[in-house]
Amino acid sequence: MAEEVPPPAHQVPAVSISSDGTSSSTVQKARFSDRVRIRSILGRPDGGAGLAGQKVRISGWVKTGREQGKGAFAFLEVNDGSCPANLQVMVDASVSDLTKLVATGTCVTVDGCLKIPPEGKGTKQKVELSVVEVIDVGTVDTATYPIPKTKLTLERLREFPHLRSRTNSISAIARIRHALAIATHTFFDEEGFLYIQTPIITTSDCEGAGEMFQVTTLISHTEKLERDLIENPPPTEADVEAARLIVKARGEAVAQLKSAKASKETITASVAELNEAKASLSRTEERSKLKPGLPKLDGKIDYTQDFFGRQAFLTVSGQLQVETYACGLSDVYTFGPTFRAENSHTSRHLAEFWMVEPELAFADLEDDMNCAEAYVRYMCKWLLEKRYDDMELMAKNFDKGCIDRLKLVASTPFGRLTYTKAIELLEEAVGKGKEFVNPVEWGIDLASEHERYLTEVVFQKPLIVYNYPKGIKAFYMRLNDDGKTVAAMDVLVPKVGELIGGSQREERIDVIMERIEEMGLPVEPYEWYLDLRRYGTAKHSGFGLGFERMVLFATGMDNIRDVIPFPRYPGRADL
Ligand code: 4AD
Ligand code: MG
Repeated sequence: MAEEVPPPAHQVPAVSISSDGTSSSTVQKARFSDRVRIRSILGRPDGGAGLAGQKVRISGWVKTGREQGKGAFAFLEVNDGSCPANLQVMVDASVSDLTKLVATGTCVTVDGCLKIPPEGKGTKQKVELSVVEVIDVGTVDTATYPIPKTKLTLERLREFPHLRSRTNSISAIARIRHALAIATHTFFDEEGFLYIQTPIITTSDCEGAGEMFQVTTLISHTEKLERDLIENPPPTEADVEAARLIVKARGEAVAQLKSAKASKETITASVAELNEAKASLSRTEERSKLKPGLPKLDGKIDYTQDFFGRQAFLTVSGQLQVETYACGLSDVYTFGPTFRAENSHTSRHLAEFWMVEPELAFADLEDDMNCAEAYVRYMCKWLLEKRYDDMELMAKNFDKGCIDRLKLVASTPFGRLTYTKAIELLEEAVGKGKEFVNPVEWGIDLASEHERYLTEVVFQKPLIVYNYPKGIKAFYMRLNDDGKTVAAMDVLVPKVGELIGGSQREERIDVIMERIEEMGLPVEPYEWYLDLRRYGTAKHSGFGLGFERMVLFATGMDNIRDVIPFPRYPGRADL
């Protein structure tokens, strides 16, 4: 008989409501540890009050600690990252040395009894833990601990990417990020899309913008060789000549022995010596050719000597590769890290960011827009349902309007307008005195200030702009019948600007070949991509959602560097 395995604790609602509508009074332990998550105490609708009297073990980091009653006892605010709320923990001096517990950042594991706090203490907590035994302590030297009780600015916190997950804001963002990732997989799974893992190392430039990081071992090999050549200088021409003379002499020796009809053993030994001399000559010749610097062929770097035998890069998008699966499995998506070596120092650009890229077979631009809108709205609803407590923290600390924004997006259809119409609206605004840094005219790539004006001021909600001029978009986007625009779309949202970029793909082989030529791109690296059009071509569309931009939009944070655990941007790649 199959063993009954209890469901993982995080899948069990924080509280089980019994048939009479009251909260269960059994506490749920973490399945792979002997502690109880603070979320499963404080995350209950009754705030944990129904668990009073229960004995539990909790673990976490002290946010604030204070000794009271002239050192008779201490109160600790403990957080284990499972929810934004801290559990109030009371330790009596008879149980433990209090001084080692109270420093911010101290890690504690304690056994205790849950109790309803005495009335009138001004505490909002429905339950607190009265400690019976201190099981484990990870102490902190307050003199050197860089994350003090008083708030550091987000900018300063970036100096400590290894410790900033201890803060309320960064941990709330981490939980929101997690929720958005799970919402993503759930949405696409529910809609029948398959999750495809596309490569991180690639040999094709999807966006054709030349903003790729190169992947190579040539540089480290060259450095190693140059060090080696200094320690063991390469043989000179004279050394090679000497080795050649030895081979010649040994060859003559063999010939002599043979003509003198020497014994078989003697000849064999002499041949062995000759072979060894030949091998030594070949090694000497080989080493004499070694030169410092990168290997070159016809004045260019010789990538045939690189790790992959050709030039390789970190991907800027999984789109081209995921299209191959869409043209075989129909609806698919990829979700992974992407890399762009653009020297942007803005609050919305990273050198390493995550992108969600669905690819819809047998779908046109309108289907694509419908999917993008449904997906973004799904994520907003998901956050409201699953991470309301964290959203409340964001609203309190960073952006008062973030919850209302999620509600608005979850409930309101996005605006939709063509690029041409968008330009008209911007020109109208300019006519009425609105000043933009970047001039507005048909054919420009919309700048962030234009995008934000349209979504924040004109529409005051998310907006899809479509049918862009072909001159500013990638080669793979489908040419419209007007010959001037392509079936591209961008989703623009308040606070962020561009959240999504997508398009219907050019499925006509002759048209796409022409576009590649027109844009001066080499055809050879795209031959495999063109095969999708040569054999069984299909109408298809897709888009890419910048995952960090979605986190920015949801949380209302100002800087993209604070919504990814380990931000990479020009001049910075810590850890
Ligand atoms: O508009 P992009 O460049 O589109 C593509 O890469 C397509 N291949 C997607 C597709 O059709 N499958 O990038 C998509 C999104 C942008 O809308 C933006 O949200 C985000 O990726 N993005 C960045 N996010 C952070 N830092 C950067 N440097 C980003 N560049 C793009
Ligand atoms: Mg784009």
